[in-house]
Amino acid sequence: MLKKTFARLLHVVAFFSSTLLISAQNIPATLTLHADQPTTAVSPTLYGLMTEEINYSYDGGLYADMVRNRTFFGDWSGILNWYLVEGGHATAKMSLDPSTGPSTALPNSLKIEISQADAQSPAGVLNTGWWGYSLHPNTTYQGSFYAKADATALGPITVSLINDNTGKAVATATVTGANTEWKQYTFTLKTGAIQPSTSNHLAITTSHAGTLWIQLVSLFPPTYHDRPNGFRTDLMEKMAAMHPQFLRFPGGNYLEGDHIKERFDWKKTIGPLVDRPSHRSPWNYQSSDGMGLLEFLGWCEDLHMQPVLAVYAGYSLMQEHVNPGADLEPYVQDALDEIEYVSGGADTKWGAQRAKDGHPAPFKLTYVEIGNEDQFDRSNSYEDRYTQFYKAIKAKYPDLQLIATMPLKNMKPDVQDDHYYVRAKQNFADAHHYDKTDRNGPKIFVGEWATREGIPTPNMGAALGDAAWMTGLERNSDLIVMSCYAPLLVNVNPGGMQWDTDLIGYNTSTSYGSPAYYAQVLFGSYLGDHTIASNIEDAGEKLFYSATVSASKKQLYLKLVNGSSDSKPVHLVLPGAHPAANAKLIRISAPDTQTTNSIDDPRRIIPVESALHNVSSDFSVTLPPYSIQVIQFDLH
Ligand code: AHR
Repeated sequence: MLKKTFARLLHVVAFFSSTLLISAQNIPATLTLHADQPTTAVSPTLYGLMTEEINYSYDGGLYADMVRNRTFFGDWSGILNWYLVEGGHATAKMSLDPSTGPSTALPNSLKIEISQADAQSPAGVLNTGWWGYSLHPNTTYQGSFYAKADATALGPITVSLINDNTGKAVATATVTGANTEWKQYTFTLKTGAIQPSTSNHLAITTSHAGTLWIQLVSLFPPTYHDRPNGFRTDLMEKMAAMHPQFLRFPGGNYLEGDHIKERFDWKKTIGPLVDRPSHRSPWNYQSSDGMGLLEFLGWCEDLHMQPVLAVYAGYSLMQEHVNPGADLEPYVQDALDEIEYVSGGADTKWGAQRAKDGHPAPFKLTYVEIGNEDQFDRSNSYEDRYTQFYKAIKAKYPDLQLIATMPLKNMKPDVQDDHYYVRAKQNFADAHHYDKTDRNGPKIFVGEWATREGIPTPNMGAALGDAAWMTGLERNSDLIVMSCYAPLLVNVNPGGMQWDTDLIGYNTSTSYGSPAYYAQVLFGSYLGDHTIASNIEDAGEKLFYSATVSASKKQLYLKLVNGSSDSKPVHLVLPGAHPAANAKLIRISAPDTQTTNSIDDPRRIIPVESALHNVSSDFSVTLPPYSIQVIQFDLH
């Protein structure tokens, strides 16, 4: 009996407390915004991009070359992604020939020995591409390869794009003149009125017996802004919509490599592709280095971003480090050379090299990051390594802002890079993380952060965590000079992902933005230049906001995040302000935290724009459950 009464009591307590919780969420919050009282400046570079070769971000992603393994890496199974073609009664074999190649950087090649072939029975090799070749109708693809033939008259080489399902060529080109000297050959493949498809491969064949060596096979579709050796248009357009102000490159772990010899060795990533040896990425695949230092800078130029250049600082992930002092000097010199390559005039040694590589004008450089996540270096050598780089760089470039990758004990770096990978609940709890941070310390760069919920790309729950976090970044952007989500890109094809929860997903032919991507688009599009005095009452635990003003545009941007499953009324009071009667409202929302976008359902959650009518200096809005919104007020 006693037990029963106790159980009933518990039930009643549970009922009342849940009723109280519901009503706390239903109580209108009162948000007062003093649009005429600026508080702190908003950093114009608050939002940018972080990037590295992970999840096939460049090769098989942004970097548009369609040929996979263009320089013939192999494993126990053979030469990856390349297969023999023996049509009809043709016979041939292929192997990696370590004794001949077109350059010092590429000293080997694919040897194709054709013992029998004719016009009806061609022989050669085929490449399966990045999960296929994405072909479109009436489109021109620009290709090239290096080739050499034996003394036998091999005859013309046929290059074709072939549909996997019909076995028929959808575009063909002929290359003639291969002889006993290595030479680069170019070709053009043009499709006709085909159906768009990714079920295609590339074939390189001949109709004669003989031996052919090939190296560095490349094929580009039309690229963003027609940049040679350039980028996928759909991905560039998605990034442009985020209004990013900077690009942090080349990593991340990719900067460091697993081993010192696998670091991002920038001097091996510049100049003609044939002079780039390629290298292994710590994310366990070979990087072509088609995306080299100058290509990163071209990416910045195309999207009007400033480079945030990370220089290798003598630590690689498998606990290899370079001792500060004389051992580190060559790496410091490498960083100085790299800075000169980026920002030096064409009359400097490395600026002249950049001009020779095709870009005479220097790039504006403000921030240089020394290393990446050096708190993981168990030798504790970072403080001395940072100091050595700092002194050498500042001596030559006193205006550069030098970013440290961890807190330092004995010196104050210009900027400190903080990283956060968390769940939504943690971001809700931590949205005020920087509110009380000492303003006399280093400036902060939140150089990697993400709410990690959703695979391969974040779901709405993650977007809510991100948006709550971003309200804190904006509120504190007198301190936080820059911030960027990571990782940015993921190839969602099987085997394409090495890291869960990445902002933008794609396959061979198309791409989509996650809900978290759209949260970034909203925050980056309505930044403002200063915060204003404000206070909120009865917010509850899952309502977050940021209020900024653009003085030049005379606009107030109010970002409101409702992370709750219940709607939330908000009473808005704008003392002294005279907002226009109509305001713009842009919102993303979802019925559940697990709702998401995907490659097959890419637009389930997208920003929806509407007008707010009857706006005054005292009015109310109701935020739907699980919603992120920006209200743009025009101020008189
Ligand atoms: O963003 C993925 C990885 O997370 C980065 O390469 C590294 O810096 C961090 O640990």
